[in-house]
Amino acid sequence: TGCFTYDSGFTATASCKSAITYIDGDEGVLLYRGYPIDQLAEKSSFLEVAYLLQAGELPNADEFAKFEHEVTHHTMMHESLKSFLQGFRHDAHPMAMLAASVASMSAFYHDTLDLQDPEQRRLAAIRLIAKVPTLAAAAYRYSIGQPIRYPRNSLGYVDRFLHMMFEMPSEPLELNPVVAKAMDLLFILHADHEQNASTSTVRLVGSTGANPYASVAAGIAALWGPAHGGANEAVLKQLAEIGTADNVEKAVLRAKDKNDPFRLMGFGHRVYKNFDPRAKIIREMTHKVLGELGINDPLLDVAMKLEEAALKDDYFVERKLYPNVDFYSGIIYKALNIPTEMFTVMFAIGRTAGWVAHWLEQQVDPEAKIGRPRQIYTGYDVRDYKDAGAR
Ligand code: CMC
Repeated sequence: TGCFTYDSGFTATASCKSAITYIDGDEGVLLYRGYPIDQLAEKSSFLEVAYLLQAGELPNADEFAKFEHEVTHHTMMHESLKSFLQGFRHDAHPMAMLAASVASMSAFYHDTLDLQDPEQRRLAAIRLIAKVPTLAAAAYRYSIGQPIRYPRNSLGYVDRFLHMMFEMPSEPLELNPVVAKAMDLLFILHADHEQNASTSTVRLVGSTGANPYASVAAGIAALWGPAHGGANEAVLKQLAEIGTADNVEKAVLRAKDKNDPFRLMGFGHRVYKNFDPRAKIIREMTHKVLGELGINDPLLDVAMKLEEAALKDDYFVERKLYPNVDFYSGIIYKALNIPTEMFTVMFAIGRTAGWVAHWLEQQVDPEAKIGRPRQIYTGYDVRDYKDAGAR
């Protein structure tokens, strides 16, 4: 009933107009504000990309210095937020802690609730980009029973995050340029991806006039699922379960079995039907990073064998299922000493740049309306209430 177009999962519905990110799924093209992802990955930095996404243009030297200065000076979290985090059970998942603590920012920064003021909106975006890594590292430190470390603002964005995460300032991994570069690149590749589930969630919540912290917290919750950002954690667990290259054929058979819910995690994408350009960059990077760090991870062999087996299998070829951004990223995170349960948090840190850019764009979109999908009703016709004794 009803005269609506039924589009389960929004496979063919554009919910907004946006000038931020362009994807051509058939050709494997991804552009941020017109710039190809491979050029940004090679030449830019995450913070510059964050500026580009929200401002629309690459910054000149002064603009970048101002932006970096502002982000750096908003990295501290409110001291009471620390006690909020300390109320969690010791084994809380860091995604739960991140979603909750970002939502709680609504209660700390009331001044940004004047959404009519462009300066307040901009400040909210800066606060989110600056504080999400601090909250993420704090959630991790809490989960391992270590004291939370304050952001060291003499460091750059990525080094500061590494410093907050890891115990010993002299630990060789920390402030290692290979590690910092790899992490910066992963943040760039995850920074935006137009109307994916989490960004659409940010926009849906934002469309009601809710504040940006609540909107981004909702995006973090949407990202957590294994069909979306949670796939990177699921990939690594799956590769570990497969264990050795000998077991790859068995896993492929299971993934093809329609009576088995098992899927190859890190394969397939709603939009990319040729290849995921981010996966291509990450694949090359995995070999480079493991080589440079002198790491020989048997999971990389399993991953390569799995990719090879899937790419020549009719099931995957016919359905155009290729490795996506999450397939190799976990192996790099592991090489960088990032624990598995933090993988989706890492995705969230990068994607925060995109979420705030979309939220800002939506606030000035004259055509933006409250998001309110319709449904095809499949329930009962009208019927009369029965008293409890008569049911
Ligand atoms: N393993 C086995 N079969 C698959 C897979 C997979 N990973 N992905 C899709 N299929 C099959 C699916 O069973 C269906 O087959 P059939 O037509 O016979 O029913 C067909 O391919 C189409 O799949 P779909 O689920 O209708 O496609 P979708 O566009 O709704 O879903 C997806 C896209 C990414 C959710 C899905 O491919 C998937 O679950 N992949 C595994 C999880 C994953 O890697 N997610 C990360 C996505 S990329 C980054 C991000 O968003 O975070």
